[in-house]
Amino acid sequence: MTRRYRIATIPGDGIGPEVMGAAVSVLEALGDKIGGIGFDFVELPAGDACKKATGVALPEETVRGVKGSEACLFAAVGETAKEVILPLRQRLDLYANVRPAKAYPNVPNVKGDLDIVIVRENTEGLYKMVGDGGPDWGVALRVITRRASERIARYAFKLAEGEGRRKVTCVHKANVLDTTCGLFVDSCRKVARGFPEIFYEEQIVDACAMRLVTHPEQFDVIVTTNLFGDILSDEAAGIVGGLGLAPSGNIGESFAVFEPVHGTAPDIAGRGIANPMATILSAGMMLDWLGKKDAAKTLEEAVGGVLKEGKHLTPDLGGSARTSEAAEAIKKKI
Ligand code: NAI
Ligand code: MG
Repeated sequence: MTRRYRIATIPGDGIGPEVMGAAVSVLEALGDKIGGIGFDFVELPAGDACKKATGVALPEETVRGVKGSEACLFAAVGETAKEVILPLRQRLDLYANVRPAKAYPNVPNVKGDLDIVIVRENTEGLYKMVGDGGPDWGVALRVITRRASERIARYAFKLAEGEGRRKVTCVHKANVLDTTCGLFVDSCRKVARGFPEIFYEEQIVDACAMRLVTHPEQFDVIVTTNLFGDILSDEAAGIVGGLGLAPSGNIGESFAVFEPVHGTAPDIAGRGIANPMATILSAGMMLDWLGKKDAAKTLEEAVGGVLKEGKHLTPDLGGSARTSEAAEAIKKKI
């Protein structure tokens, strides 16, 4: 019996359709090769080109399509990112943005065996879009609630518990931002008391940004607010080898959208040389979330195998392979 999953795909703009095409072909090959699992892909429009054609960047039909699927794989959208991914995260209540940063063999990195996860609150903070502006001024409110803070802290501790990780670091700026970060820290401390077997510590965000470079091995799971998590996760991606390898999941109670951390890479779009691995690793996180742990592991090991071999790397990793060649190499490894 083959279990078929209904997967919504949003290719978007720039390199989005290139890396999505690669990821979809790898998932299909995975289904064919390991058996017992299959995919029905439903492609949905969103992004800059969609807005140009229809007047809206995130059509209602796309939101309905994501809700009607079992999971969604999203590539990248351009200038309309705030009109697409932010509303998707907030409307579907995808409160946990999970961003692993893992060093793979043969990829230039700062620390060879690094394997950390950043858990970013994904629905509020400065991205709540409460504010106003004029030609010479702008105001944005940073919204932090106890409910969202406790919820993301609980997610981080449960993730640590589930993956056998030993430490959760709450990253904040409560020394200055006392009303907002103060509440976030207080919420994390409260949740930490329920997980006595996991070591809990706190770091101020600027010091954390430096320590991620100088002593990345001191971290295991980082839990933080929306903007800090956005910045620190790109930093962590850089520490382990770049955006071409950084996957993520936007996870809620009922829905989840998986996407590479990177954007549309306008500097290389249309040339067929984008690294598809971040999107393929995101698809692996999706399989894991769907409960297909073995398939997820097979996919990640195939990516790791291609990296280790070093023969089919895209230019961002120092190679000369095209997107399609990297994807073919991954399919052969499955
Ligand atoms: P970016 O992530 O698109 O690119 C940053 C750098 O990384 C570029 O040099 C690019 O060539 C490289 N890069 C990114 N992904 C790569 C890949 N898969 N393979 C090889 N190289 C890769 O960030 P940037 O330039 O700041 O933003 C470009 C556009 O993307 C903007 O319009 C922005 O709004 C949008 N964006 C969308 C996101 C989303 O859809 N969630 C997230 C981040 C940015
Ligand atoms: Mg970002």
